[in-house]
Amino acid sequence: MTRAVPVVIQRGAPGEEPRFETHQVPYREGMSVLDAIVWLRTHVDSTIAFRYSCINANACKECMVAVDGHTRYACTARLSPAGTTVGPLANKKLVRDLVTDIVPPKESLQAILGERSRTS
Ligand code: FES
Repeated sequence: MTRAVPVVIQRGAPGEEPRFETHQVPYREGMSVLDAIVWLRTHVDSTIAFRYSCINANACKECMVAVDGHTRYACTARLSPAGTTVGPLANKKLVRDLVTDIVPPKESLQAILGERSRTS
């Protein structure tokens, strides 16, 4: 029988009071926090907002979240057998749930369009 561990996900949008949802996730030795979130989105709630791309290549940096209060890449952070709390990055603008705006300000679409309008 597969053992389940509690995973707490912080949910919410800008301007809303954050809420914390606890779910039981089947645990495998060595699984990542990303594995747990993907399992939750697939089997429990497809509305959990989360972003990732390269999965374990540690190249895209899209999966940065707060894991037990520390900034981590969800694809490389290991899920604790005692359970884990996952939230959005506290120092970035919240988009929704675990998604924050991690694009450097100079690289945002608004900045690029603003730069183009000044040069044309
Ligand atoms: S998914 Fe790309 S660094 Fe984690």
